[in-house]
Amino acid sequence: MANQKFTKLIVIALFCEAIIGCDSVSPTIPPILFGPAQNPSSVAPILSPSYRPTPSPSISSPDPEVQKPLSPNPYPFYLLPLGQGIKAAYWPSFTGFPASSINTSYFTHIYYAFLLPEPATYRLNITSFDLEKLLEFTGTICTLNPPVKTLLSIGGGGNDPNVFSKMASNKSTRAIFINSTIEIARKYGFDGIDLDWEFPANDTDMSNLALLLKQWREALEKEANITQKARLLLTSAVYYASKITLFVVPPTYPGDAIGRYLDWVSPMCFDYHGSWDRVTGEHSALNDPNSNISTSFGIQSWFQVGVPPEKIVMGLPLYGRTWKLQDPNMNEIGSPAAGPGPGDGILIYSQILEFNNQNNATIKFDKLSCSFYSFAGPSWVGYDDVGSVKLKVRFALARSLRGYFFWALGQDLDWVIPREASNVWGYG
Ligand SMILES: *[C@@H]1O[C@H](CO)[C@@H](O)[C@H](O)[C@H]1NC(C)=O
Ligand SMILES: *[C@@H]1O[C@H](CO)[C@@H](O)[C@H](O)[C@H]1NC(C)=O
Ligand SMILES: *[C@@H]1O[C@H](CO)[C@@H](O)[C@H](O)[C@H]1NC(C)=O
Ligand SMILES: *[C@@H]1O[C@H](CO)[C@@H](O)[C@H](O)[C@H]1NC(C)=O
Ligand SMILES: *[C@@H]1O[C@H](CO)[C@@H](O)[C@H](O)[C@H]1NC(C)=O
Ligand SMILES: *[C@@H]1O[C@H](CO)[C@@H](O)[C@H](O)[C@H]1NC(C)=O
Ligand SMILES: *[C@@H]1O[C@H](CO)[C@@H](O)[C@H](O)[C@H]1NC(C)=O
Ligand SMILES: *[C@@H]1O[C@H](CO)[C@@H](O)[C@H](O)[C@H]1NC(C)=O
Repeated sequence: MANQKFTKLIVIALFCEAIIGCDSVSPTIPPILFGPAQNPSSVAPILSPSYRPTPSPSISSPDPEVQKPLSPNPYPFYLLPLGQGIKAAYWPSFTGFPASSINTSYFTHIYYAFLLPEPATYRLNITSFDLEKLLEFTGTICTLNPPVKTLLSIGGGGNDPNVFSKMASNKSTRAIFINSTIEIARKYGFDGIDLDWEFPANDTDMSNLALLLKQWREALEKEANITQKARLLLTSAVYYASKITLFVVPPTYPGDAIGRYLDWVSPMCFDYHGSWDRVTGEHSALNDPNSNISTSFGIQSWFQVGVPPEKIVMGLPLYGRTWKLQDPNMNEIGSPAAGPGPGDGILIYSQILEFNNQNNATIKFDKLSCSFYSFAGPSWVGYDDVGSVKLKVRFALARSLRGYFFWALGQDLDWVIPREASNVWGYG
């Protein structure tokens, strides 16, 4: 019964796709986190205290290198050859989902999430928990078929941005951090390193991020030359858009350095809305004619700062966000809400299917945002399902992006979403 309804909706979604084409909907140029985001809504008044931005004074970088113009790009961009697409996913070490359960058929790259730098020394802190998980991950992943590449991700939604800020502000501390990341990545057999600094908060942080990426890439090249090993990849998860509107004075990412020194960058195209908003919303909306908070705006904003499409790997959530409706009869997107719904505001995909089933929820597909929502009584969930993820992958293809990634492994059932996404992507 529930399955029938489900199938019907997918058919509707695909039909809409045929007549509208997700990326032709509202081309307003102009619409995270890992872990469930802290509260990355750009609606300033409702931000959680931890994201309350401090006004930043004018840029005054302590590092003279910031002022220097960049030299010609030593790392040319390549056109995307067949087989070079990225289908990635994060493996959260802290949820208990076993690494041995990963079906690597649907992925090219798996990220280990996360390690953190020690606040005092900036070397990676490997606690006994991390050690156990690192050994589980690295001991398992190489036995899986087909093989995948692995990246060690540093930071995440729970990180202290001040540690990254301080580390990045000084050439010697950058060097210590970089050295530690290379040592650990090599020790545990990773193919690359991923930075998830959430978030650089002002122009000084952004200039220092550019310096960090340059120094890091140079160190990786050098290490590869010395050891004669394949160079470690360098990637970064970033805010969905190139300008971080979480802050009163929104800083812009250094697009030039990102395009040059990273192998790819991964905008976190989710957490646009959540129970911190007073109305329901789609947290991974593809389009939103009423705001800049959407994936189409975010991706365009990365182009605008000079990051080429073949360096962009778009984020897709395997979880939804929930609200408690003020009035169960007002159950559209944008309806008044009275706080978090089931799961205290977050349900992972498998829980959403269960919620829909158990409550005989009404399920709707919204063409504009390319998202689903469901409701039962006062409970409301905005989320992605197979149909909407397929449309978003088509959007990534239409924009010639490098690929896509999921947050996070273990949140879906039976791999249905990664499998269908992979089928649409078609290669690599
Ligand atoms: C959306 O972005 C455009 C271009 O960056 C900007 O001009 C406009 O002010 C933004 N709109 C809002 C509501 O922030
Ligand atoms: C920039 O933000 C960092 C936190 O990320 C803060 O420590 C630093 O003082 C800020 N710098 C300026 C110039 O505002
Ligand atoms: C992984 O997925 C592939 C493709 O769907 C399937 O053939 C294979 O049996 C799956 N592997 C496992 C271990 O379930
Ligand atoms: C490493 O992390 C653990 C757990 O958070 C903490 O107790 C310990 O003090 C950290 N070590 C250093 C050197 O910062
Ligand atoms: C940079 O860090 C090094 C090593 O921690 C320290 O000796 C030096 O004083 C720092 N420089 C500045 C400008 O803070
Ligand atoms: C890290 O620093 C140590 C100590 O200076 C050095 O022996 C090692 O070669 C460095 N590793 C890398 C990858 O630079
Ligand atoms: C690495 O080696 C290549 C050629 O073998 C050279 O062109 C390049 O400059 C070297 N890079 C570094 C950082 O040493
Ligand atoms: C489930 O909801 C539909 C309307 O969406 C209704 O027709 C049906 O009777 C409901 N079934 C149960 C078991 O509540």
